[in-house]
Amino acid sequence: MFEQLEMAPADPILGLGAAFKSNGNPNKINLGVGVYKDSDGHTPILASVKTAEERVLASEKSKSYLDIEGSAEYGVAVRRLLLGDEHEILASERAVTVQSPGGTGALRIAGDFLARHYGDRSIWLSEPTWANHPKIFQAAGLRVETYPYFDAASNGLDEEALLAALGQIPAGHIVLLHGCCHNPTGVDPSPAAWQQIADIVAERRLLPLVDFAYQGLGDGLREDAAGLAALCRTGCELLIASSFSKNFGLYKERIGALTLVGGDRSAATKALSHLKIAVRTSYSNPPAHGSAIVSEILADEMLTARWQDEVAQMRARINGMRREMVEKLQAKRVKRDFSFIEEQRGMFSFSGLDAEQVETLREKYAIFIVSGGRINVAGLTNANLDYFCESVAAVL
Ligand SMILES: Cc1ncc(COP(=O)(O)O)c(C=O)c1O
Repeated sequence: MFEQLEMAPADPILGLGAAFKSNGNPNKINLGVGVYKDSDGHTPILASVKTAEERVLASEKSKSYLDIEGSAEYGVAVRRLLLGDEHEILASERAVTVQSPGGTGALRIAGDFLARHYGDRSIWLSEPTWANHPKIFQAAGLRVETYPYFDAASNGLDEEALLAALGQIPAGHIVLLHGCCHNPTGVDPSPAAWQQIADIVAERRLLPLVDFAYQGLGDGLREDAAGLAALCRTGCELLIASSFSKNFGLYKERIGALTLVGGDRSAATKALSHLKIAVRTSYSNPPAHGSAIVSEILADEMLTARWQDEVAQMRARINGMRREMVEKLQAKRVKRDFSFIEEQRGMFSFSGLDAEQVETLREKYAIFIVSGGRINVAGLTNANLDYFCESVAAVL
């Protein structure tokens, strides 16, 4: 039976990793997959995570299953991180959380739940978006449509087109919004634009699904939640997919969460009962280790402060690399204005390099970037920045 199968294409992002590994060029750089590297080019285990992990291992008494929705303590910690400690949504108990294997798991559970109960509506994704988004929602059985987002001429947000398109989406449809650090462009709406987005969402009774995979890596943990806060102020119902792969550096532990905000406590409780069915029929109940680490950190003031400091350091390094890259490219006298890279936020930049230039960078210089021109700025270091800028200058 299996011999009849055609080979499936490699994943456009993770597939690059295999090509990178087998490349023999000593100068090779992998700017494909969204993984943070420190100034030595390593993906570190955060000190706050190490301490929490030691405590968790020392105190763990059983490997029995978690509940279908995961740890209750973790759910509380996630909601406070998203909304702040004092939010009305927390007081009125109209938000529920299911612990998930990574942000991807949260998106898929959201997709399964939405397809089952609201399958007559489409999910609308920004054009462009993370390459896995359409695949996850199509696999769940949802119809996928797109709205405009990026203006290639200015390398910024096409605010006019975005707002106009959101205003045309039929009532009751689902809109996926990147909470911050838009992947792949690095372009986020301004606070004023977020307010307009929130007003349209509420007015048209759209259902937002906020993909929040990079909280803290843009401008700050609270600052990055400004868009989410604007949506919540309207009182609309919404879903939030959190990932702690990047901001806690817990990539392979696979830890995330799906939080659902209902109109009231009863709506949220009913929705939770259905989210639990989606979980039970997918992976039954979540892995525990990552959530134990996150809960341990967020329940301890000193560990929380240390973690916040570590997130701030990652953020500062990424933004510093953006600055240095722009300066270095200027110094190499490239004709193109790359100053927009400094305005973008998070791990990724849409570099404006076209498919042929991306191909040449790979073939000739062993620099691996995603075919749309997305580069992982967090993969640049003082050791490889010069080679990268020189290669880009040569290719241009
Ligand atoms: C926009 C976006 N959403 C969700 C995820 C999922 O992250 P994970 O499943 O690794 O937690 C990613 C990871 O790259 C992402 O970029």
